[in-house]
Amino acid sequence: MSTTAPIGEDKKVPEVTSKLVPIYVMGKRYDVPDSLTIMKAMEYSGYKFIRGCGCRGGICGACGTVYRKTGDYKLRVGLACQTVVEEGMYLTQIPFYPANRTVFDYEATAPVPEAVFKAYPELFRCVACNACTKICPMDVPVMDYVAAVKRGDFEKATELSFDCIQCGMCASRCMAEMAQYHIAQMVRRIYGGKITPKATHLADMVDNIKGGRFKAGLEELKKTDVSTLKKLYMSKEAREIEPNMSEDEWTPSNNANL
Ligand code: FES
Repeated sequence: MSTTAPIGEDKKVPEVTSKLVPIYVMGKRYDVPDSLTIMKAMEYSGYKFIRGCGCRGGICGACGTVYRKTGDYKLRVGLACQTVVEEGMYLTQIPFYPANRTVFDYEATAPVPEAVFKAYPELFRCVACNACTKICPMDVPVMDYVAAVKRGDFEKATELSFDCIQCGMCASRCMAEMAQYHIAQMVRRIYGGKITPKATHLADMVDNIKGGRFKAGLEELKKTDVSTLKKLYMSKEAREIEPNMSEDEWTPSNNANL
């Protein structure tokens, strides 16, 4: 969907032509527009999300869904907020998976592979069946990052698991009964916090903040009424907005606050 409406003005929602198709949520049939995502179709059917929904944008991993199509034995997975319904879909959401998560003392933990091996000895029960990779709705190469952890290669494991959204679907299929996503999170924390070099520009900015560089500007904003704030936020003249397809190194022309 695209719009040419100026910033701050109502966008025109294009007319959607869709037909109703049957889907089955936890065994019960509902007829829903075929243009909806699973999440919207469930809401259309009367479900209210108080669990199993967070960001709605494919980031939080709260809406893992298992489904099967009519006449097909194969179990598939997707995120309810991203997957569009299909006629005859049988589905259920798995918003939480009770996988093991080891609590560890971050400060006292040495950045060595043995720390992870000790926290998650089940790592070595992996038989490289690859069921975890096949089920991942984010196409993360789960088996490969597990292999990297076993080799003690934190950098590779961090890189390969970076797109993980912690939905837990990999653990649901693992015959070694490990929680791959929690293991990868421990590795990323150790790698990011204790192995990679410190980001000096970030440290500089933290010093700037602590030194009060933005205090006056924030105080000014706090005193501003809501309608002026809205104008400041929405107006192209008042706020230079990064273009959608900007250069990697894009910066606003007024970078006094950077
Ligand atoms: S609601 Fe966050 S990933 Fe779907």
